[in-house]
Amino acid sequence: METNDYSQDEMNLIQTFQWFHRHPELSFQEFETTKKIRELLTAANVKILDLPLETGLVAEVTGAHPGPIIAIRCDIDALPIQEQTDLPYKSETDGIMHACGHDFHTTAMLGAAVLLKRREKELGGSVRIIFQPAEESSLGALKITKSSALDNVQLIFGIHVIPNVPVGTIVISPGAMTAAVDRFQITFSGKGGHAAYPQDGVDPIVAAAQFVSAAQTIVSRNTDPFHQDLVSITHITAGSTWNVIPTTAFLEGTVRTLQKEDRRLIPKRLEELSVSIAEAFRATADFRWIAGPPATDNEASWTAFSAKLAEDKGLKVISSVPSLGGEDFAFYQQILRGVYIQIGTGQSEPNHNPKFCVDPKALPLASAYVASLAEKALNVLKSRESQ
Ligand code: NI
Repeated sequence: METNDYSQDEMNLIQTFQWFHRHPELSFQEFETTKKIRELLTAANVKILDLPLETGLVAEVTGAHPGPIIAIRCDIDALPIQEQTDLPYKSETDGIMHACGHDFHTTAMLGAAVLLKRREKELGGSVRIIFQPAEESSLGALKITKSSALDNVQLIFGIHVIPNVPVGTIVISPGAMTAAVDRFQITFSGKGGHAAYPQDGVDPIVAAAQFVSAAQTIVSRNTDPFHQDLVSITHITAGSTWNVIPTTAFLEGTVRTLQKEDRRLIPKRLEELSVSIAEAFRATADFRWIAGPPATDNEASWTAFSAKLAEDKGLKVISSVPSLGGEDFAFYQQILRGVYIQIGTGQSEPNHNPKFCVDPKALPLASAYVASLAEKALNVLKSRESQ
């Protein structure tokens, strides 16, 4: 592993990481975080692009010779969670915590930026370094894709920590590593009235209750049993007292899919079931689908390239068990070839838990790996151009 050359960097990385951990900020409120990233990049002489972003930023290490452009991406936001660790550098902001390791991602990318800057004369092209806001709200990636940050970019790499995988290990697979995360809302409307005279009303709760059971048959009866899919109804509201039949019943939930065909099929079935069940009970249903990020989709040959490079650097590589959690990195992969890579950060409670933590020893490994991933990928693209 190439960490020994960077002992001073390692110290700096750990201090920087601790600063970000102490100062977590929520999605689209990452003002101090962005300021700190800007300061550190400026001190390292790394160019920052002029983009209309309120939080987050995009830097570029421009190679000495013109060539292809690739991007490396991290996210920078934290979560509304009260930290319960005993870390000496725990969050200084009540109710907000870096409980998903985005402080680690930010620091690792800053480290990679410094390493790439040192090698700018050798680079076969340029590297855009994306410090993306608001991953937790799934809206940050779209801010970046709508800006000019990705103009002429050919390929993108993204990283995320993974707890309970040892430091020195990366997790990577072709295809989907995280799911499409979509939301649905249904309002059943009937006719309210006195609970003692149901014959004069139309009870929307009965229709909603039938729907809750029926919805669970979509995954068992309509999708391929070898696919991983999920339908969860997580929120129901109807009525306000015991002796009144309400006029409406509202429910909402989430659908998680890895296959595009299931992502098309499930909302169709949810709508069909809700409308036809409502009709069977003389009620009506209003179905609303709120699409979130698609499933990640790692391009096969660049995934193999990333795995091989990790092994060459002495890292262990394991393949991923797909998660039905989401990741807005998938939005970049809709428009660009890309690879999403998880980096082992040792023992911890799970992501989004108030005791979640990462082992900062993984930082120099992550920085060095991402920097060489960028450099080596540029060489490959450059050599293809000249063929
Ligand atoms: Ni995360």
